[in-house]
Amino acid sequence: MTDTNRFVAPDEILVGRGSVTEIGPLMAARGSRALVVATAGGIDRHGDRVLDSLHAAGLDTTVYDGVEPDPTVAMVEAGVDRYHAGDCDCLVALGGGSPIDAAKAIGVAAATGTPIREHATDRAGYETLDGPLPPLGAVNTTAGTGSEATRSIVVTDEATATKFLVVSTAVVPEVAVEDPELVASLPPSHTAFTGIDALTHAIEAYVSREAWPMSDTLARAAIQRLARWLPVAWEDGDDLTAREETLIGQLQAGQAFTNASVALVHGMARPFGAQLHLPHGLANGVLLPAVVDYSVEGNPERYADIARLLGAADEGDADRTAATQAAPAIRDLCEAVSLYGYLDAFADVPDRETYAGLVGEMAEDALASGSPANNPRVPDREAIERLYLDVYDRALADHA
Ligand SMILES: [Fe+2]
Repeated sequence: MTDTNRFVAPDEILVGRGSVTEIGPLMAARGSRALVVATAGGIDRHGDRVLDSLHAAGLDTTVYDGVEPDPTVAMVEAGVDRYHAGDCDCLVALGGGSPIDAAKAIGVAAATGTPIREHATDRAGYETLDGPLPPLGAVNTTAGTGSEATRSIVVTDEATATKFLVVSTAVVPEVAVEDPELVASLPPSHTAFTGIDALTHAIEAYVSREAWPMSDTLARAAIQRLARWLPVAWEDGDDLTAREETLIGQLQAGQAFTNASVALVHGMARPFGAQLHLPHGLANGVLLPAVVDYSVEGNPERYADIARLLGAADEGDADRTAATQAAPAIRDLCEAVSLYGYLDAFADVPDRETYAGLVGEMAEDALASGSPANNPRVPDREAIERLYLDVYDRALADHA
């Protein structure tokens, strides 16, 4: 091991209204038969623009629109079958984190001939893919996961009802397209979920023990940009300036965390979201203020910066004073997009006794993810259990 840092990014990132029409020429330089990976709704809404651009550039296409939120091993396998049936040599993902992650996973499984489960970090470890993968172009339609620029894949293993991670530089898409016109149809609920997921990426990258100047610059810019523009995009989804700014913010946040790491919130959010059936960004937003309160003493300077970036403290405030304002400012931003108002419609909150029976297993899963070890204050299992209970009393009890 060396202490060398590595910065990864797509070869080309296009941002702007109408940029979706560029996907054809970008992919024509990289392949000739594309598997287009999407949800059925994604193809209905935006498929024509993507397919027209690919066909005009001379590519043949096969569509796989069987992806659903939280893609499963079976969805990846169905996509691999379509990839081979179409004799494809490249991939185009159309959608948010789920289709993009599915396309990454299809590329890995198709190129290696090995089931995607075998490439998970808990089996193969990190950065174990060595062969070249099919070129991937990601046309993003949400302002959230940043998956179009990251080296991670999240897949649900339906056999165990858990999610696993694949992490490799090889899966970073070659091309990312960020067209605000494609995000305009995202409803307010999912604008809030995906935007708060992005905010969490930026905050966790900034406080991570893996942070370094290249990730810091992106994390700081993302926090400021998302704080300013997410409430505007949530209020008026047709405001294309706000949509473009949040797209850039989530891209910067994705690049920040993939070149540093996420931390305790993401470690806790996966089992928490799975048990309560919460969308990923909502799970993050429920946990984030409590985890920030817990973590402040591990790095008050960084949390003071975050409070200042959110406009909740001044340059002149001492770090220890400013740092205490980070959690309330984050909670205010979540409330500005009515995040906790979505709990009744989007969560299955059990009674406290049932929930208390789950926290031991959730804490174990959170620790096993490795993410808590990157937190400024590293918790043991009991501390994570206490945090889960604290979150219930603070944020969930009224929604049981
Ligand atoms: Fe996330």
